[in-house]
Amino acid sequence: MIREEFILNQIPEIEWIKDEDLRKKCIRTWQYAADFADVDEDDLVQITFANFVLKGCEMNLIEHTRRVVQTAAVLADQFVTAYGDVVPVDRDLVICAAILHDVGKVQEHCKDHKGITFEQNYYLEHEFWGAYFAQACELPWKVVYIIRSHRNGKPDKKDFPESFIVYNADWLNFKYLCFGYEMIH
Ligand SMILES: [Fe+2]
Repeated sequence: MIREEFILNQIPEIEWIKDEDLRKKCIRTWQYAADFADVDEDDLVQITFANFVLKGCEMNLIEHTRRVVQTAAVLADQFVTAYGDVVPVDRDLVICAAILHDVGKVQEHCKDHKGITFEQNYYLEHEFWGAYFAQACELPWKVVYIIRSHRNGKPDKKDFPESFIVYNADWLNFKYLCFGYEMIH
């Protein structure tokens, strides 16, 4: 099993989650995903996040995750300052969901898809795997929903401030990189 210290070392932003139970479940979900996909620590850092979409982009999943968490935290803090009286934001929920939004890619894009059939990943994309891992680790349903809905997101009556922030933080990071890399269609 991937060590807790390894996850914390790779994604130090986990420490930003103040609620201890939420923080532990967040770490546990990365461990669970890696176990499920038979991915070890060396494999985990080699999983890229978009090299099949952005030509030549070798950024790994962990770095992308950190960029999205950092962006989401800035957005959450800015919106609390600007609109906090009208729209409260659960910062822990934002940070936790941002850290886990792409955890399903551990299953979907682990190097050479170890033991995973193409069919499984064809019919169940990373947002669903991520939601599955998160619910298995007893994350709040709002976190599960944010993971499940973060891709191809569109206005949904179930949306709430935290889902809006994580979706847009991910979208901003991806679209910004599109200025530097050619899209593969
Ligand atoms: Fe992402």
